[in-house]
Amino acid sequence: MRKVQLGKTREQIPVLGQGTMGIKSGKDKEYYEKWKASLRRGIELGMTHIDTAELYNFGASERTIGEVIKEYGRDDVFITSKLFPRHLGYNSMLKACNKSLERLDTKYLDLYLVHFPSLGFSKIKKHMRVMEQLLNEGKIRYIGVSNYSIDQFKEAQECLKKAEIVTNQLRANIMKQKHIHNSLPYYKKEGIILTAYSPLGHRGYTNLKEDIKSKLEQVAKSHNATIQQITLAWLINHENVIAIPKAFQINHIKDNAAAANINLTETEIKQFYTE
Ligand SMILES: NC(=O)c1ccc[n+]([C@@H]2O[C@H](COP(=O)([O-])OP(=O)(O)OC[C@H]3O[C@@H](n4cnc5c(N)ncnc54)[C@H](OP(=O)(O)O)[C@@H]3O)[C@@H](O)[C@H]2O)c1
Repeated sequence: MRKVQLGKTREQIPVLGQGTMGIKSGKDKEYYEKWKASLRRGIELGMTHIDTAELYNFGASERTIGEVIKEYGRDDVFITSKLFPRHLGYNSMLKACNKSLERLDTKYLDLYLVHFPSLGFSKIKKHMRVMEQLLNEGKIRYIGVSNYSIDQFKEAQECLKKAEIVTNQLRANIMKQKHIHNSLPYYKKEGIILTAYSPLGHRGYTNLKEDIKSKLEQVAKSHNATIQQITLAWLINHENVIAIPKAFQINHIKDNAAAANINLTETEIKQFYTE
């Protein structure tokens, strides 16, 4: 699996990781075993970056991942989780991170993101103080944000004393290109990674309009790939972009990992530009 540098750190991160927003709570054993098998297969195929959040189904996602990563060396996986900024107090935010660590059954998170810029009274400055404390305590290795505008990103960075924010996780895919055209140039210039969430449009592009579908099919045919693989390749063929597709089905996991090897030409990339 191709890797890229994570921000200005020495860390190398796979261009494709695994999203886990779909893991539901309260299901039967077979359901969780199937999820775990998919996550394992993804790890074995090099998608060692696993994305989760305290918000995802009342911790079911973090708990399931915790059971899987125990089977690997801790250094062999890269775990991202997210603080849901509804915790108003400083201490309750620290506690939220501890709970994520407990559910994941790990001593540290590789990357911790603030899930949204601010909700009500919970503000960027306070979030960044929490993040920096967690970093200093060794509970998280890197700080990131999600769903931040460029101005909010700059504000967050200015609130940090020493640490540098390594990524902004944003919705970006072939049908939602706003951040690729408007935000990516800034992140590239600053050496920051744009992590594309919902890279397959959340539903796996089963209902695309005929014009885009037929264009994708043409490119897919020439690369002996599926249209979903082309949409993932389209994202990660942009410099400074990594993506975290979610896949429950093992055949999807295999296809996604293989998409990391698809090199699109400049012309193939640009023909899908909508702006
Ligand atoms: N920061 C944020 O605010 C935020 C917001 C949304 C999402 N996220 C993160 O981003 C991750 C991914 O986004 P997402 O869950 O919205 O959806 P997504 O990855 O865009 O799409 C998931 C859908 O695509 C299907 N799929 C996956 N690989 C496929 C393939 N190779 N061929 C055909 N279909 C395929 C999946 O099917 P199966 O599951 O049946 O295999 C599922 O239905 C989330 O899980 C989460 O970790 C973050």
